[in-house]
Amino acid sequence: MVSTHPTGVQLTGSQYLPQRLNLNENVSPNQELLPLTAKVNNHDCLEIGGCDITTLVQQFGSPLYILDEETLRLACQQYREAFQQYYQGASQVLYASKAWNCSAVCAIVASEGLGIDVVSGGELYTALNAGVSPDKIYLHGNNKSRSELDLAITSGVTIVVDNWYELKTLVEMVHTTSQPIRIMLRLTPGIECHTHEYIRTGHLDSKFGFDPNDLNEVFGFVSQQSTLNCVGLHAHIGSQIFERQPHRDLASVMVQWLRDATKYGVNVTELNVGGGLGIRYTESDDPPSIEEWVKAICEVIQAACAAENLPLPKLLSEPGRSLIATACVTAYTIGSSKVVPEIRTYVAVDGGMSDNPRPITYQSVYRAVVANRMSAPITETVTIAGKHCESGDILIKNAQLPKNQPGDILVVMGTGAYNYSMASNYNRLARPAAVVVANGEANLILRRETYQDLIRQDCLPERLKK
Ligand code: LLP
Repeated sequence: MVSTHPTGVQLTGSQYLPQRLNLNENVSPNQELLPLTAKVNNHDCLEIGGCDITTLVQQFGSPLYILDEETLRLACQQYREAFQQYYQGASQVLYASKAWNCSAVCAIVASEGLGIDVVSGGELYTALNAGVSPDKIYLHGNNKSRSELDLAITSGVTIVVDNWYELKTLVEMVHTTSQPIRIMLRLTPGIECHTHEYIRTGHLDSKFGFDPNDLNEVFGFVSQQSTLNCVGLHAHIGSQIFERQPHRDLASVMVQWLRDATKYGVNVTELNVGGGLGIRYTESDDPPSIEEWVKAICEVIQAACAAENLPLPKLLSEPGRSLIATACVTAYTIGSSKVVPEIRTYVAVDGGMSDNPRPITYQSVYRAVVANRMSAPITETVTIAGKHCESGDILIKNAQLPKNQPGDILVVMGTGAYNYSMASNYNRLARPAAVVVANGEANLILRRETYQDLIRQDCLPERLKK
């Protein structure tokens, strides 16, 4: 059966191309399904960043993560410019690198003037190694180890303190340095938002942050510590959020905290409202644009500070998904298929839950196209299965595709966030390569793992050797 749009137009993979006339139009990357440079070339193949996807797969193998530099840079610029436009005070956008932390991504976002939020020694090490300036790095985490804290202190990054245990550990550790440690305090705002339970962090029953009821005690303690320099307050309410109201509420709660800190003699000059803006994974997802999200927050902070007669704090935010998800696609090669009569057809690809654990973890829904037949009519409804030994390893249920065959290239959209960063070696699959594409050039940013890489950490005790 040929799929048609309600308007009667026959659907093809091209329906997912960015709906704009030229790149200068104000398109918010998080509102598109494909990267902004996506086109169909005259071989009927999908092209991103001027590179034909099928050629990239021939060159770099599959599965392959393909990151469009232009889309990522545009998202960075839109965040930065929106803060400049709507906020009268100083601002700093941080990239929440848990979305995808690797050297090249850190280098690109830093070159756009963004700082970086890291949540582990490993992410911190990568950011420092990529040349990100320590004064623009913020270390998060609800159970940072002493060695992670040590690396943060010696490299001079800001530590976002999550709890009493960490605060007291820092006071003990501070004797080893001469400079006061630059910290922020993370608080749990008690704001509910509609998103998956696992990616909600701002409600009171959360493992993250100080309880706002302890605020006076925390500020009292911090104000006594000459070795800690508490510069700001932080909160993050969750991820993949489409409503603006929860962030408006957050902004206004944070200004109340700022006022309370001032009362306790803690000179707080920075507020970090976290990340959380959602992206469009399917046609029915309707997130606000980057500009609309930033504007909503700036308006509330400015109005609340004016009402409280407080000077404007430096305003930080730390988006992850909305900066990078849409900039990347994953290309797979189609292999076997299985028809279960009257139930479904499984079409298997050469990756799965190890390179994209989001469908099995959060029941996330993705869209895909067959990259080498972009204008073929969509006639099939199939289930895209991964190659893992696990029945739940399904990447897309009921994918709408043209007729396809082994060797075709399936491109899954919106895989820039929480895919590579959550990838595993389950079933000892080697993690795929990643390339960055721009102006017809593709550069490797993550090498495909080899079998040697897979056994690199294995130790075979002498007595077990034959
Ligand atoms: N800041 C903090 C403190 C966070 O915990 C997070 C995300 C962010 C910023 C960035 O949020 P974003 O702008 O990306 O929504 N693995 C899940 C998402 C977990 C989000 C964790 N924290 C997923 O695949 O949906």
